[in-house]
Amino acid sequence: MPQPRQETDAVAPASLLPLITSFMPARVVHAAAELGLADLLAAGANTAAGLARETSAHAPSLHRLLRALASLGLVEETEPGLFALTPLGGQLRRDVPGSQRNLALMFGSERAWRCWGALLDCIRTGEAAMQHVYGMGSFEYLAAHPAAAVVFNAAMAEITREVARAVAAAYDFTRFRRIVDVGGGNGTLLAAILAAAPELRGIVFDLPAGNAEAARLLAAAGLAPRAEVVAGDFFQAVPEGADAYILKSVIHDWDDEESVAILKSCCKAIAAGGRLLLVERVMPERMKASPVHRRMAMLDMNMLALPGGRERTEAEYRALFAAAGFELARILPLPEAVGVSLIEASPVAGGT
Ligand SMILES: C[S@@+](CC[C@H](N)C(=O)[O-])C[C@H]1O[C@@H](n2cnc3c(N)ncnc32)[C@H](O)[C@@H]1O
Repeated sequence: MPQPRQETDAVAPASLLPLITSFMPARVVHAAAELGLADLLAAGANTAAGLARETSAHAPSLHRLLRALASLGLVEETEPGLFALTPLGGQLRRDVPGSQRNLALMFGSERAWRCWGALLDCIRTGEAAMQHVYGMGSFEYLAAHPAAAVVFNAAMAEITREVARAVAAAYDFTRFRRIVDVGGGNGTLLAAILAAAPELRGIVFDLPAGNAEAARLLAAAGLAPRAEVVAGDFFQAVPEGADAYILKSVIHDWDDEESVAILKSCCKAIAAGGRLLLVERVMPERMKASPVHRRMAMLDMNMLALPGGRERTEAEYRALFAAAGFELARILPLPEAVGVSLIEASPVAGGT
């Protein structure tokens, strides 16, 4: 007797529909983050009517949003109409360990959505969407929009906290005397490195809009005596004479010409025998349909859509180094969950 066809089992996993509609959960999470629902629910389970009063929202629509959040596992409907925060939803709380609230605000921001909306134009023209949509680069935009810069810097720190722990554990920083974290943002990475190397001194070098919070963070970690915050433009120069220059998630923001210019600034400044360290994704030569590759490829699209940069392969990093007076020494993969590698390079004798 013929077996009934298992339509849903056989066809659903191969369907494009989940990808076609995958923006929908992202918008739901962003709406929850903007409304601050996680912080309100952290005080105790609540109803849509109660939360609507606290957020000035439309109660029936908020009820539907809560049901959508329940379907995604961010809240649980513990009894009809009563919603409680789950550990996953707790990641939308502000100022808790592991918070991803600023990431939700940043990726859900109007700027991110307008730029991703122009992805097709980027592909057709090669131009960064920020230029296409706003007529300026990402960091010019952040300098002109302080509230967006606060969210961006905090979002970077949310990503960097976990990476910083892995970097500090994977590499021996005690061999250096002075390190510059170039484009170091609010100092999250430098703080972890200085904590792991008690004799090391360090500088967080960034644009004024980038490292505005760094002095406060380093002081709070008790590192002020060994840490300095310097504002400047890495296309002009970076602080001189250190024996280590580290750049995390910086080179991937820029095209090849700009990346070589940043690396040349580091090459001019680095002490003899010093090391350049990049913390970046190393793209595979061939892409597979796997969760790890998908994440890397989507973030590469994000670089194309927003700052106009790119994620690179090992061969592409070697080429950048060669053009800027460095040579690749080794690549230390960090734990897969961290998603990035530590790329070590040395200045070539004679420099650029
Ligand atoms: C993607 S963020 C990475 C921040 C930090 N390294 C991290 O991973 O958390 C890039 C950083 O480069 C900084 N930046 C951009 N243009 C710069 C410039 N011309 N000179 C110095 N820093 C710059 C930004 O302000 C920002 O902090």
